[in-house]
Amino acid sequence: MKNIILIAPQAAGKGTQSALIEEKYKTPHISTGDLLRAARSEETEIGRTIIKCQDEGILVPQEIVSKVLEDRLMEDDCKDGFILDGYPRNLIQANALDEFLSKINHEINYVIYLNVSREEVLKRITGRRMCEKCGANYNINYIEQRPKQEGICDKCGGNLIQRSDDTEESIKTRLDIYYNDTLPLMDIYKDRNILFEVDGTKSVQEVFEDIKNVLGDN
Ligand code: AP5
Repeated sequence: MKNIILIAPQAAGKGTQSALIEEKYKTPHISTGDLLRAARSEETEIGRTIIKCQDEGILVPQEIVSKVLEDRLMEDDCKDGFILDGYPRNLIQANALDEFLSKINHEINYVIYLNVSREEVLKRITGRRMCEKCGANYNINYIEQRPKQEGICDKCGGNLIQRSDDTEESIKTRLDIYYNDTLPLMDIYKDRNILFEVDGTKSVQEVFEDIKNVLGDN
C-alpha cells in the first residue's frame, strides 16, 4: 500500500506528478487545493471563506480543510492508498493527519520532496494556464507544455485561464507560508526515514522517472 505525501513549493509540479502517479499506481490523487476549489461555488459562508483565503493566498481555516480532507480519505477508493498534494502545510496539520490516519489504521510511508528553486517556481506560476472545462494543465513558458492553439485546450477545446490566485501578491504570501511553515516539516519525516528528495527542476518525464525509482514498479 502506498500512502504518499508530496511536499514542494507552489507550482513545483505536485499536481502534475500526482496525476502521473495516480495513473501508474492506480492510487487516488487528493489535492486539498482542488477539493477546496470545488467548494468555492457553494453559496454558503464556507464557500465565501474559501474564495477569500485562496485568492489572498492564505490558508483556509483548519476546521474547513480537515473536514474536507477527512471526508475524502474515508471514501472507498482510498482504502488501498492515496497521494496527498497540498496537505499538511504546517505542524498543526501534520499532527492532525497523524491522529486521523491512526484512527483509520493508515500511516504515511512515502514523503516525496520535489526540490525546486524559488526562481524556477516563479517562472512556472506565471506561465501556468488551466483549462476551465477539464482542468488540464499547460505552461506557456515551456515550449513542450504549450497548447497547440493559443488559449485553447488540446484535450477538450475549453478556454485556458490563469488561476485567480496566481497573482504577484498572492504568490508572495503562498511562498512565505511554504518556506516558514511547510518546509520545516521535512525534519519530522526525515526522522521517520520516509523522506525522499527528488530534483524537481528536470523535465516532467524525468522527474516522474525519479519518483518511480523511489516508489518501485508496482
Ligand atoms: P493549491 O491548489 O494546492 O495551490 P499551491 O499550493 O499554490 O500549489 P500549486 O497548485 O500552485 O502547485 P503544484 O505544485 O500543484 O504545481 P503544478 O503541478 O500545477 O492551494 C491553493 C490554495 O488553497 C492555498 O493557497 C490555500 O488557500 C488553500 N489550501 C490548499 N491546501 C490547504 C491546506 N492544507 N490548508 C489550508 N489551506 C489550503 O505545476 C505548476 C506549473 O508548472 C504548471 O503550469 C505545470 O504545467 C508546470 N510544470 C510542472 N512540472 C514541471 C516541470 N518539471 N518542468 C516545467 N514545468 C513544469
